[in-house]
Amino acid sequence: MENEVLRAIRERRSIPRFRPARVPGDALEAILEAGRWAPSYANLQPWEFIVVRGEDLKKALSEIAGKVTIYRRGIENADVVIVVAVDPEIDPLHYREDAAVATQNMALAAHSLGLGTYWIGVPEGGPSSAEALTKELLGIPDEFSVVAILPLGYPDPDYRPHKERRPLAEMVHHERFGSRGGG
Ligand SMILES: Cc1cc2nc3c(=O)[nH]c(=O)nc-3n(C[C@H](O)[C@H](O)[C@H](O)COP(=O)(O)O)c2cc1C
Repeated sequence: MENEVLRAIRERRSIPRFRPARVPGDALEAILEAGRWAPSYANLQPWEFIVVRGEDLKKALSEIAGKVTIYRRGIENADVVIVVAVDPEIDPLHYREDAAVATQNMALAAHSLGLGTYWIGVPEGGPSSAEALTKELLGIPDEFSVVAILPLGYPDPDYRPHKERRPLAEMVHHERFGSRGGG
């Protein structure tokens, strides 16, 4: 089967290289709106989206991201960076999943609008971690968790993403783990 949603899910790729072009305000708003409509445990919506456009802040974020990704230069070249933070006090059970689905909604929305993103995962960490440094840089309260840094921009046309996935037959189990038979 095929439709726009299925195609967007399949064709979205992580884009760490961007051409210098401004992301229009209405596109940015549509992407944030896609995050807002993500599901969350008990509809608690514990996330906050910090939109970073300032060159100095993007440069600082790029330095921090160097701790968790090899593609940190993507951040400096991205027109916008969305930082996804979440309040564990609002949803102590599922705060990281909540933030993850909002992040993926935004990545898919960006792709559907011809924009590229890539997800820089921010692990929960101690005092000098990427998470702590991001919180300090952007004034995010201590009790929050930072889950993702999402650079956003128009894909560099020379960048050729290529990703495969494990075959479905290898990851789907019927009735019980280990049973590949189908039916
Ligand atoms: C939780 C999570 C964390 C990730 N962290 C990073 C990262 O730190 N650096 C990076 O370059 N890509 C990161 N990625 C992107 C993955 O590498 C990428 O999604 C994967 O290789 C599949 O490629 P595709 O997105 O192009 O299909 C992350 C993705 C997820 C879901």
